Amino acid sequence: MKNFWTNYPEIAYELEIVKNIIKDNIKSSEKYFKESIFELVDAGGKMLRPGLLLIASRFGNYDKEKMYNLAAAIELMHSATLIHDDIIDEARFRRGIETIQSKLGKEYAVYTGDFLFCQCFIMLSKFNYSMDNLREISAAISQICKGEIRQYNLRYSLDTGIKNYLKIISGKTAALFAISLYTGAWESQCDEKTSKLLGRIGYHVGMAFQIIDDILDFTGDTLRLGKKTHTDIIKGYYTLPIIYAIKEDKEGKIKDILENNIIEEKEIQELIKLVNQFKGIEKSRKLADKYTEKAFRSIEELPECKAKKILKEITHELLSRNY
Ligand code: IPE
Ligand code: IPE
Ligand code: MG
Ligand code: MG
Repeated sequence: MKNFWTNYPEIAYELEIVKNIIKDNIKSSEKYFKESIFELVDAGGKMLRPGLLLIASRFGNYDKEKMYNLAAAIELMHSATLIHDDIIDEARFRRGIETIQSKLGKEYAVYTGDFLFCQCFIMLSKFNYSMDNLREISAAISQICKGEIRQYNLRYSLDTGIKNYLKIISGKTAALFAISLYTGAWESQCDEKTSKLLGRIGYHVGMAFQIIDDILDFTGDTLRLGKKTHTDIIKGYYTLPIIYAIKEDKEGKIKDILENNIIEEKEIQELIKLVNQFKGIEKSRKLADKYTEKAFRSIEELPECKAKKILKEITHELLSRNY
């Protein structure tokens, strides 16, 4: 997969160090265990959360070693959530390779995810990070779980609605983006105002990011994304494009298809057609644009520097990503 940070060699270089720190923290002689984690690390995730954390750190006193370790811990936490998410979604591919649960079974994947969460906390116990911060990071994991549970409870619900959808993505995705930027700033001795501002930027970037992820589940390309498309509909996750389209579809054509128990390729193609026809994709893009604009407005309040320029560019690039 493409390296997301190619245009930012300094950060790309640092993220390689972060990856090596992650690997240095995975020690085990159990069969397949270390190998499967290394494979996932090397498979080419975008490393967005650690990348954004390192950018936020540049607004304060940038203590590289301390920040690389923090960035590695956050990426580990993200990886753990993905491994567990793939069990729940029964996903076979992630980052272009077979998922741990598909290759080694759900037992293996549950333990691997749990192991990574623990490694993350071991890493957070180094470098004297502030207690408040550790609490906030733990709270972010709770938010992810609550977001995922809300999503699970609302699966197959035809009246999920925009409000519920926003609550779901706020928990399962935006919370981790927010904490990545906040904690990067705070642990670099930025003042509270700047740290909170960066946290808010992360939150809005994360909201736009998940909306785009959900759009890509309809419009994306499996090979380029490295994960299978159309899985949300099949799993009963009615995301923003469907929610918007259902509202416009006065004859209830979409509901008719979804209420039918059989959702196969033919039904999926029909749904995609209807979602486009009722402007589900277009409207979702508009909302992603809105969140991005909110992020831009907050970015403008940051002091002028190279990190600000990079943050602006990345925020913009994330809107048009196709992987
Ligand atoms: C996937 O996140 C989970 C979502 C929040 C949509 P990423 O798209 O950042 O996953 P990787 O790390 O690049 O594989
Ligand atoms: C993001 O949701 C999952 C987490 C934040 C753990 P998705 O289920 O949409 O993520 P993908 O599409 O599988 O990467
Ligand atoms: Mg998933
Ligand atoms: Mg998705």
